[in-house]
Amino acid sequence: MSDDPYRSAMLRLALEMDLALGMAEAPWGAPPVQQRGVSGDRPALAPDKISDRRVAPPPINRRSDAATQVAAPRSAPTTSPKVTAPSTVNVEDPMPIDFMRPKLSEPMPGPPADRAAALKQLAVVAEKDLQRFVNDIATRVVFGEGDPNAALMFVGEGPGAEEDKQGRPFVGRSGQLLDKMIQAMGLSREAVYIGNVAKLRAADRDPDTGRLKDRPPTDAEVKRGIAYLDEQIEIIAPKVIVTLGATALKYMIGRAENVTRVRGNWQTYRGIPLMPTYHPSFLLRAYTPENRAKVWDDLKKVMERLKS
Ligand code: URA
Repeated sequence: MSDDPYRSAMLRLALEMDLALGMAEAPWGAPPVQQRGVSGDRPALAPDKISDRRVAPPPINRRSDAATQVAAPRSAPTTSPKVTAPSTVNVEDPMPIDFMRPKLSEPMPGPPADRAAALKQLAVVAEKDLQRFVNDIATRVVFGEGDPNAALMFVGEGPGAEEDKQGRPFVGRSGQLLDKMIQAMGLSREAVYIGNVAKLRAADRDPDTGRLKDRPPTDAEVKRGIAYLDEQIEIIAPKVIVTLGATALKYMIGRAENVTRVRGNWQTYRGIPLMPTYHPSFLLRAYTPENRAKVWDDLKKVMERLKS
């Protein structure tokens, strides 16, 4: 819910009216309330606002021994990426060819024999490698968590304040909503895997107030972590991936898309079926019956696919 108590009350009232009118269209019910001590959530892009900062192909990393050896992906670039377009684009425009990550066309290698061990080792490598980007804003690496053998993987944008504090993905308000969505699917958080395209919090400090304001990660920031996400997916080899919001979708399918347009329609990431849906923090900001129904429809398609 919003930090603004008036807006929060209005949203709650709207939800109660929905319920009273029998319009509760998604089984997870009311949005999570702001918990004491839990900071606000990172604001995912509105689904029609697509960041168009270009990204160069990610580093290619190969596991030489699938079960035990995990090498660090090549280090992040030292120069800033070229920004050649405004921050929102006409989504009909094709993305420049260099946006495509070559790995997207490559088939997945088979998963390692011991996925848990391989993931653990990758986490150690990522922690060590990404420590150089830790600062007073991003105070730790948020690698991802869940079942190494999960059939379902959720991919979000990047850690916010609460995730940075706890070192775990999706533990703020949008994480609480995600938990409810997962439960509504008949699953538990522990049975799925949750990761992000960016592994460190992206935020700017307001020079006047000193407060941090979350923002979508830049291409360079995503590039630092996405090779590790690619590795995580290779290790887990999920049956289905769900992307949450425009940023995750863009980096997973290699082109900017309007989530409103493509949500509910299967995409693929290296042969794995990928379902784009709204980011829970967008849903929290626009907690309408229509939006909840859309997300629930998307998740029902995922449930069907998992059963097949
Ligand atoms: N939003 C995200 O995209 N990822 C998180 O881990 C938390 C909030």
